[in-house]
Amino acid sequence: MVRPIFIVGFMGSGKTTLGKKIAAAMGRPFVDLDHEIVAHIGMSIPEYFNMHGEIHFRVLESEFLKKQKGKNAIISTGGGTPCFFDNMQWIVENGIALYLQHSPKSLWSRLSKSDVNKRPVLKGLNGDELLTFIETKLEERIPFYSQAQVSVDQIQTSLEEVVQQLK
Ligand code: S3P
Repeated sequence: MVRPIFIVGFMGSGKTTLGKKIAAAMGRPFVDLDHEIVAHIGMSIPEYFNMHGEIHFRVLESEFLKKQKGKNAIISTGGGTPCFFDNMQWIVENGIALYLQHSPKSLWSRLSKSDVNKRPVLKGLNGDELLTFIETKLEERIPFYSQAQVSVDQIQTSLEEVVQQLK
């Protein structure tokens, strides 16, 4: 039976980029969960957080996650997706989860180069405050991410090796 592959991991870990590469290598479609939600709500995620609050976003996110049941796709999830409701349990029961691991320092250097305002959870943090936030949040989220059936360190693992582990 074909099962969807869910890429999980912290914000800024490169889930979308890797997901597209895996999809191309395996000849399977690619889905970005955040993009699906944005297309549905007709506004950006920060706008939605401001207007409706985080919990409404989390409910919607969980609904969109569960719509992926039975798809043949490679799906990049949001950094918080596995950490709410029963989402991570659902992911491992209904698909294969791939955890894209990074150290807090690596995430910090990647996120420092991105627009932190596009991610409401980061609340415009930068510098040392951003690093402290990442360390705390990652520790809180690791128990969810680490339930994934496959974990990879992108820097040390080639695309071929990742694909091999997913077969
Ligand atoms: C979030 C991560 C974002 C997006 C939302 C919340 C989080 O996705 O779903 O801003 O709580 O970590 P990315 O991981 O693609 O940035």
